[in-house]
Amino acid sequence: MKTTRWGILGCGRIAASFATGLKSAPGAVLAAVGSRSADKAEAFAKEHGAERHHGSYESLANDPEVDAIYVATPHPMHEADSILCLKGGKAVLTEKPFTINRIQAANVIATARERNLFLMEAHWSRFIPAMREVHRLILEGAIGDIRMVQADFGFRADFNPDSRLFDPALGGGALLDVGCYPLSLTVMLLGTPNVVIGLADIGVTGVDEQATINLGYSDGRLALLSTAVRTNTPQEAVIAGSEGTIRIHNPWWKPSTFTLSRSGKDTETITIPMEGNGFNYEAIEVMKCLEEGKLESDIMPHAQTIEIMRIMDTLRNQWGVKYPGE
Ligand SMILES: NC(=O)c1ccc[n+]([C@@H]2O[C@H](COP(=O)([O-])OP(=O)(O)OC[C@H]3O[C@@H](n4cnc5c(N)ncnc54)[C@H](OP(=O)(O)O)[C@@H]3O)[C@@H](O)[C@H]2O)c1
Repeated sequence: MKTTRWGILGCGRIAASFATGLKSAPGAVLAAVGSRSADKAEAFAKEHGAERHHGSYESLANDPEVDAIYVATPHPMHEADSILCLKGGKAVLTEKPFTINRIQAANVIATARERNLFLMEAHWSRFIPAMREVHRLILEGAIGDIRMVQADFGFRADFNPDSRLFDPALGGGALLDVGCYPLSLTVMLLGTPNVVIGLADIGVTGVDEQATINLGYSDGRLALLSTAVRTNTPQEAVIAGSEGTIRIHNPWWKPSTFTLSRSGKDTETITIPMEGNGFNYEAIEVMKCLEEGKLESDIMPHAQTIEIMRIMDTLRNQWGVKYPGE
């Protein structure tokens, strides 16, 4: 595989995990990192073995020695930061949620298309081998027609009004932080729902601290999802088909084990271990697409990114949750 020179924009927590992941992605080199602070960029580069460091995002976006940039800032900055990198001529991998809302997502995608550049939402779960295998089994009809999806992603964080999870200015709320995982799974398996209904508990900062979500499809298929940042939930996914069930065990969003139960057959528990910390697989997908000259990934296509954002807009509209500037 050809070498891809990576840049990381924003030197926070998930950026560190991605830098570690790149070490298990053959052909990936961490060429440069960019931070709003030159000292922070230098320290991050030293810790993670980046060749160069930049004291501004603009400087990283225009570094000619970088091919692809991973955008790891809080969600409200994803739109501007991704567009900055695209305008610097880079392929872009943007953290989930792709943006705050559908309009911002469409802006970023339009910029990539105008410039003929690769762009993908970093929804890392989709690329993890056990999840690829679940999807493959479903596509080959292992459990018949999918009738229902049940999935949750909730955890209990300490309440801190200034943190990314609770501050509306940083895109706080469970839906955008982790609700996007069960939504992404459902959109991958079932496509576009025609009914979206949610109930949310809105906390004192005005963002959703927990929510339940129902999605309905015209042919009767249903999804029952939940999300939280103040409640621990089982973090399991169950995909029920006409001829069997797949249960992806906790933590289903970073899966290694699932159980396949088929009518008239022995139940099988299948384990497919991850290599590296899991962030390597999304990087490998980007590099594969670049080598094949693709502008988007078949596994995480732009249309599904837009659909996930549309569903989240619909839910927030039902709950009256708005972010500054909306
Ligand atoms: N895929 C996953 O499993 C996963 C897990 C966690 C988070 N995420 C996503 O990754 C993104 C970042 O999350 P994180 O947990 O890494 O956040 P974080 O630790 O707070 O880091 C975000 C970084 O963004 C930069 N930044 C730019 N403007 C900022 C502002 N106004 N306030 C705070 N930081 C700002 C900062 O980097 P500099 O100071 O270096 O400029 C900061 O270190 C979020 O969109 C989140 O949804 C994904």
